[in-house]
Amino acid sequence: MSQLFSLQGRVAVVTGASRGLGLDFARTLAEAGATVVCVARTTAALEAAVEGLRAAGGAAAAVTLDITDEAAIAAAVPDIIARHGRIDVLVNNAGVIYRAPVLDTASDDWRRVLDTDLTAPFLLARAVGRHMLSRRYGRIVNIASVMGVVGRATVGGYVAAKHGLIGLTRTLAAELGPDVTVNCLSPGYIRTELNVALQQDRAFNTMLETRTASGRWGTPADLRGALLLLASDAGAYITGQSLVVDGGLTSILA
Ligand SMILES: NC(=O)c1ccc[n+]([C@@H]2O[C@H](COP(=O)([O-])OP(=O)(O)OC[C@H]3O[C@@H](n4cnc5c(N)ncnc54)[C@H](OP(=O)(O)O)[C@@H]3O)[C@@H](O)[C@H]2O)c1
Repeated sequence: MSQLFSLQGRVAVVTGASRGLGLDFARTLAEAGATVVCVARTTAALEAAVEGLRAAGGAAAAVTLDITDEAAIAAAVPDIIARHGRIDVLVNNAGVIYRAPVLDTASDDWRRVLDTDLTAPFLLARAVGRHMLSRRYGRIVNIASVMGVVGRATVGGYVAAKHGLIGLTRTLAAELGPDVTVNCLSPGYIRTELNVALQQDRAFNTMLETRTASGRWGTPADLRGALLLLASDAGAYITGQSLVVDGGLTSILA
């Protein structure tokens, strides 16, 4: 059974792997045997992350890249393929959020969220998808959110981007099959730098604890099994899906 979830010999690219969920995704894939190419903008944080992965016995490399830079992506993808031989798994994880009501949101703040959370996964899936199709193997895992399933005040751009990412995933699944699968992993609330404002909000904490079946915030470790399912041979017949891992948040009307 462990063979089904093994990534031995595979090459995985994880965006936003310098901290938060992306760093734990990188650890998970490395522990399953993959060589993990870690992408983010801040070189020092990225190198520290890669050092940590290597110290734990994993194979990892750092690529400093701003995923909103189309020309930089066009150069980076062939370079990664040349260095590592191929890309078997792409985890489109990097994301940003902007908190303000839609009526108070400047166009540039809207665009920054859409560029990072929706257009960048499109650019990367397009470049890497062509390569995966030519090799007749691939796993693309787009990190969406419960905000791709429901709406919420003050995060309009993020909600729009994550709903869009789930739609893009379904179309990519239709276009890249049968050998390349494309799915979303849609987490609930997990403590990271992205949601410090909510961690400090007592009313939000109470809501989360009473409204989820799990009764707590999620941890990065809660996402590991779902990621491995979608990134490995175990997920060969799963495509076009959004796997929601949220402790029951979006299934229960409290
Ligand atoms: N935390 C949650 O509760 C939660 C819930 C649902 C979904 N998610 C999703 O999970 C993903 C990761 O979130 P997180 O909580 O781990 O966030 P985080 O702690 O803020 O980490 C974000 C990562 O993305 C990188 N990044 C941001 N903009 C980038 C860009 N333009 N180019 C390259 N890298 C970039 C950051 O590094 P640099 O700043 O150095 O570039 C960092 O490594 C996001 O897509 C988020 O929407 C999170």
